[in-house]
Amino acid sequence: MSEFIDSILKEHRVFFPSEEFHRSSHIKSMKEYSRIYKKSVENPEAFWAGKANHLEWFKKWDIVLRNDMGFFKWFEGGYLNVSFNCLDRIIKSGKKDKIAFIWESESGETKKYTYEQLLKEVCRFANVLKKLGAKRSHVIEIYLPMIPELPIAMLACARIGAIHSVVFAGFSSDALKDRIQDSNAELLITADGSFRNGKVFPLKDNADIALKECPTIKSVVVVKRANNKIEMQNNRDFWLHDLVSQDDIKDFCEPESMHSEDSLFILYTSGTTGKPKGILHTQAGYLLFVYQTFKWIFDIKDNDVYFCTADIGWITGHSYIVYGPLSNGATVVMYEGSPTFPKPDRFWKIVEKYNVTIFYTAPTAIRALAKEGDDWPNKTNLSSLRLLGTVGEPINPEAWMWYHNVIGKKRCPIVDTWWQTETGGILITPLPGATPLKPGSATKPFFGIIADVLREDGTKANVNEGGYLVIKNPWPGMLRTVWNNPDRYKHTYFEKFGVYLTGDSARIDEDGYFWIMGRTDDVIKVAGHRIGSAEVESALVSHKSVAEAAIVPFPHEIKGQAIYAFVTLKSGVKKSDELKEELKKHVSQSVGPIAKPDKIQFADDLPKTRSGKIMRRILKVIAEGSTEYGNIMTLADPSVVEVLAKNRVA
Ligand code: WT7
Repeated sequence: MSEFIDSILKEHRVFFPSEEFHRSSHIKSMKEYSRIYKKSVENPEAFWAGKANHLEWFKKWDIVLRNDMGFFKWFEGGYLNVSFNCLDRIIKSGKKDKIAFIWESESGETKKYTYEQLLKEVCRFANVLKKLGAKRSHVIEIYLPMIPELPIAMLACARIGAIHSVVFAGFSSDALKDRIQDSNAELLITADGSFRNGKVFPLKDNADIALKECPTIKSVVVVKRANNKIEMQNNRDFWLHDLVSQDDIKDFCEPESMHSEDSLFILYTSGTTGKPKGILHTQAGYLLFVYQTFKWIFDIKDNDVYFCTADIGWITGHSYIVYGPLSNGATVVMYEGSPTFPKPDRFWKIVEKYNVTIFYTAPTAIRALAKEGDDWPNKTNLSSLRLLGTVGEPINPEAWMWYHNVIGKKRCPIVDTWWQTETGGILITPLPGATPLKPGSATKPFFGIIADVLREDGTKANVNEGGYLVIKNPWPGMLRTVWNNPDRYKHTYFEKFGVYLTGDSARIDEDGYFWIMGRTDDVIKVAGHRIGSAEVESALVSHKSVAEAAIVPFPHEIKGQAIYAFVTLKSGVKKSDELKEELKKHVSQSVGPIAKPDKIQFADDLPKTRSGKIMRRILKVIAEGSTEYGNIMTLADPSVVEVLAKNRVA
């Protein structure tokens, strides 16, 4: 990471928006940005209320914002329906035949849905859910791969007022079980299997294992996808195609009138300690925030074709594959598989095939594809592209330049968008027609957002001084609480400074540009995925041979960060390479393949304070191969450090 920080400290290149963007984008200049920004933060309530008028309300709100003892409420007294705003409202505006989704499977099948067709599918699915007994405010767990049924199921939940909780299909049965148990879901929507790199992943088998310990789940809806053999439990499991084709399932479903602050969805994400937390987003504020950010940051126009490579199982997919784009009436490309299947030009082929104009991906994908060489993109026609975006982790300037030169042919602005599961939508970002870009910087706050960098004591950091990134005012898309755990919400996000603590460190340069430097907590960003140290450590310790474990990040060329595990074995257990492999497999099975450690070092002792706390800071220095440990004299046994460093896994 330090190499990365060195390179961004030396980064002085600036790229200005093209004439065309100046002329035709929603926000056309820094002058316009500054004028609107100033107004938006002087009176955020007036700003957001103005924008909220673009949505269709069954009843308008009484009050824009209220702070209810630290829990923020937006648009109270207002009623709307999110699926109505993403479908019926768009159809009413004359776009019934516009393509909403273009879906491509890994093996190359495609399906297209117009807004009208999508509404029908959503309504039929909603009627199926109702028939199974689903009601307003029930939690519905969704464990599906990137197939059209995933957004359809989400919108169906939104239509009937049920709360969806999507679990990334790459997660293990244990991870699914934890999430179902925490959310008390009553219904599960899954598929027989999913495809990745040509192989079948047994989703339903995983779900069956999880459900043994999830008594709250009464019914399971199964989408036929991979045709792998599965078991269907009588009176619990139902094929979607059977349910949806029944005579009494109608093509229309009346949208429930939802209060602005009713729950829309829960999405689990990792934190510093313990199990993942259920981040709760509600109806109106979330919808408004993703609607407005999508519109201006991606500068969406009626003829754009937008392709976001994220999985809908993460917040990026919720906000910028489903709710943001659909509420803008956009055409969205959704791809099921791996970026390198069958060859490393898969994304570029998709861009070429569908004339994609806006492309949004993660730095890890850019680095991985850049490594495959320029021929792959150069051999495809990328001339339809006009705007590029990145999200998930800091982008190193080299990867940024490759993206800009080789993919964007120096024509396309890059929006480096900083945000989090908790923020609901993008908070720090360039606006493509206005903001001069500096490679590696997410640039400036979006309208209505007051971001700052603070020192440990809460005072403002100097120009270019690193510190805690905070957001000083509420915004409509912010999380409302941690599901079942309001104390954790207050403690994690507001206790330290009394304003929203992001968990990231950052600095602000002399031009007011934000440079994100990484996490300040025990969260590791592996290939842009958020992994909590505690989850991986408890997976390791749950193995019969392991007494203790500590994990830390180390820099990785493609993934940005990867996981280095220090493992103390129980006495009498033999250290072997086979055991290392077994432990990696064990983590993969208990959390998911994305959490698998790249390196494991057996350690007879770990550096601990006299009170027994493991000093991960020191382990991180060892894993990086550095010797700048800082003060180690507070350790119970300082000699541990040298032994560990000597046996480091290179
Ligand atoms: C964390 C949030 C937001 C959608 C995907 C990730 C890191 C995110 C950037 C960026 C530098 C970034 C931060 C943040 N992050 N975007 N543009 N530049 N870092 O959501 O899984 O909740 O992770 O991702 O560390 O806190 P998430």
